[in-house]
Amino acid sequence: SRIYEYIHTSSEGHVGIISLNRPEVLNALNRTMIVEILSAMESFDQDENIRVILLSGNGRAFAAGADIQEMANDSAIDFELLDQFKNWDRIAAIKKPIIGAVQGFALGGGFELALCCDMVYAADDAEFGFPEVDLGVMPGAGGTQRLTKLVGKTKAMEWLFTGKRITSGEALHYGIVNRIFAKEILMEETLKAAAKIASQAPLSIRLIKESVLKAVDTTLNEGMHFERKNFYLLFSSEDQKEGMSAFREKRKPEFKGK
Ligand code: CAA
Repeated sequence: SRIYEYIHTSSEGHVGIISLNRPEVLNALNRTMIVEILSAMESFDQDENIRVILLSGNGRAFAAGADIQEMANDSAIDFELLDQFKNWDRIAAIKKPIIGAVQGFALGGGFELALCCDMVYAADDAEFGFPEVDLGVMPGAGGTQRLTKLVGKTKAMEWLFTGKRITSGEALHYGIVNRIFAKEILMEETLKAAAKIASQAPLSIRLIKESVLKAVDTTLNEGMHFERKNFYLLFSSEDQKEGMSAFREKRKPEFKGK
């Protein structure tokens, strides 16, 4: 696999693993690192052997936000000309499920990256927050939008206004994370969950992800219509024939993703 400067990639079975690897600054996300995360995700998305993507931090952080050193002297026009957040839109367009394994700090852009994951498993030491307000700015990679859609207006306002850090327990309570584990077993447990999802029919998983994300973005009526078309579409897959034959023949299905 490719050599990156700020991330490490590997795979285990059908799970593609991306580990953020800039521990000396708590995985602060500079622009090159975002490009690398996107590039690794897009290659896993195209890789026939990969069915699920696992995104993890390391050491004391998942990621402590965008790199403040890098952006401190930028102007509004720099951001406009760079189209600063275009790569984040491409991360949101990844078709395969992304499962986050969050330990330590997930702040600012790090929290936004966690919010881009489809499911999140967290270590008991995980802390989430949007400290941008302490820097005289605000989230720009989806924080105000994704957090609000996930937890509702009043909690989002509170956390964004105060910049306070919330614990893994609170994150679980508000549905930001799926499960919490001791730090020592987080990776193992996240891999187990990823492997389970990787054993399901890949086209079902793909169109379920697309349909759920549609629900976040649209009206019930439009979403129902979208769901129905995806449901119909799966009946033209070989895996639907295999899944239903296996049920009738009382055996385990073998899914091919076609
Ligand atoms: N950018 C650049 N460097 C960072 C960083 C960041 N976001 N977060 C941490 N670092 C660096 C620190 O500068 C420090 O480097 P040096 O050793 O060279 O001084 C190193 O990482 C270790 O950090 P600390 O010594 O500060 O560790 P700590 O345990 O005392 O504190 C912390 C940890 C509370 C997370 C603290 O580092 C912190 O507050 N970090 C900044 C968090 C933040 O404001 N994030 C939001 C960024 S803005 C954003 O993300 C915008 C967006 O929407 C895209």
